[in-house]
Amino acid sequence: CRISSNLIEPDGGRLVDLVVPEGVEREVRRRDAVACPKIKLSGIDLEWVHVLSEGWASPLTGFMRESEFLQTLHFNSIRLHDGSVVNMSVPIVLAIDDAQKREIGDRRRVALVDANDKPVAILSDIEIYKHNKGERIARTWGTIAPGLPYVEETITKAGNWLIGGDLEVIEPIKYNDGLDHYRLSPAQLREEFSRRNADAVFAFQLRNPVHNGHALLMTDTRRRLLEMGYKNPVLLLHPLGGFTKADDVPLSWRIKQHEKVLEEGVLNPETTVVAIFPSPMHYAGPTEVQWHAKSRINAGANFYIVGRDPAGMSHPTENRDLYDADHGKKVLSMAPGLEKLNILPFKVAAYDKKQMKMDFFDPSRPQDFLFISGTKMRNLAKNRENPPDGFMCPGGWKVLCEYYGSLVSP
Ligand code: ADX
Repeated sequence: CRISSNLIEPDGGRLVDLVVPEGVEREVRRRDAVACPKIKLSGIDLEWVHVLSEGWASPLTGFMRESEFLQTLHFNSIRLHDGSVVNMSVPIVLAIDDAQKREIGDRRRVALVDANDKPVAILSDIEIYKHNKGERIARTWGTIAPGLPYVEETITKAGNWLIGGDLEVIEPIKYNDGLDHYRLSPAQLREEFSRRNADAVFAFQLRNPVHNGHALLMTDTRRRLLEMGYKNPVLLLHPLGGFTKADDVPLSWRIKQHEKVLEEGVLNPETTVVAIFPSPMHYAGPTEVQWHAKSRINAGANFYIVGRDPAGMSHPTENRDLYDADHGKKVLSMAPGLEKLNILPFKVAAYDKKQMKMDFFDPSRPQDFLFISGTKMRNLAKNRENPPDGFMCPGGWKVLCEYYGSLVSP
C-alpha cells in the first residue's frame, strides 16, 4: 500500500469507502435495488451520496440516523463507541415526504435512484425520524431569515421526514462534465501526497476565483511551514464543487481560472495539488467552516488555512454580512474533534495602493487599502475593466471577463 503513515489519521481511524467493489457484486446490488422502494435523489442529495461514498465524512457510513443528526445539531460533533469525539457540524441527511414514508412502511432498506430512475445506492437498516426544519435551519445557520440559498434550494421544499441508514453506492459517482479527473477521493489524495513525499499537507478551501490575497495566505503558509522545519509542505488547493448560490462563479470557470493561477506561477504547480471537493455549499459561516476543515483531515491535510469570513455571505435581508468576519477562525481553533488539525488563522488581505499589491491590512494606515468585494470584482469584469495591477494574475482575470461576458451576450 502506497498510503504513507506520515499523513494524519482519518477521523475514526479508518477511511470509509462505501462504493461496492467492481465485479459481480455491483450486478447483485443493482438487482437488489429493483426490489426495494425507491427514493429519487435531487442534485444536492447526489452530491451528498458522493461525499459519503468516498469517506469525506468518515466515520459516517451513510445518511445520518437521528442520534447522529441530534449530536450534529446540538454539539457540532459525534461521539464514537470508544468515547472519542469527531467533529461533525452540518447535517448530512436525506428527506422524504409522507407518501414515501407510507410506501416504505416497515421495509428495512430502500434504493436511491437518480433523475432517470437509475439505481445509485442502497440504504440499509434504515431509520425514519422527524425533519424539524425550523430547528435544523436555526441551529445550522443561526437564523431563519428567508433567502438562505441552501435552505431555499433544498430544505424548504423537502419532506417532513428524514431517512438515515448504511449506504452502499453501486459505482463511483461521475459527472461527465470534463472535470471528473479533478475529483480525487480522499484515498486518491492521500496517495498523491505520499507519492510527492509530503511531510505536511496544508488545505485551502475556496469557492471563489483565486486573487492575490488568497495566494498570499497560501504562500505565507508555505513559508511558515518551511520555517517550522518541514522540508516538503504540499498545498491542497481545494475548490468546492457542489451546489453554490446563483451569483457565485460556476465551477468550470473557476477551474479555468485556477489553471491560469498555476500556469502564471502565482502558485507553484510542483508543490500544489488542485482537486475538487464534492460537497455542496451551505453558507453557514462558523458552523460550516468546521465541516470544511474536518473533511480535509480525511483527505490527509494536517494544516488548514482560514481567513476572513469563511463560508460567509451577505445577510439575505439586512445590509450586513451574515456572520462576524472573525468568528470562523475563532470557532475553528476551539472546535470539538478538530484538536489534531493545525489551524492557520489569517488576517484580512486587501489591496495596498502604496505598494500596488495585495497585502495584509494594516489598521494603522487604513487609507492606503482598497477592499475589492465580490460585487466590485463582478462589476469590473462585466464591464471588461481591469482591477488594479497586482490584484489577480492577468490570465485569471481574463477568464473572469470571459465568464461575465458570456452572461451578458446572447
Ligand atoms: S469560502 O466560502 O470558501 O470560505 P472564499 O472562496 O471567498 O469563500 O474564501 C476562501 C478562503 O479565503 C477562506 O478561508 C476565507 O476566509 C479566505 N479569504 C477570502 N478572502 C479573504 C481576504 N480578503 N483576506 C483574508 N482571507 C480571505
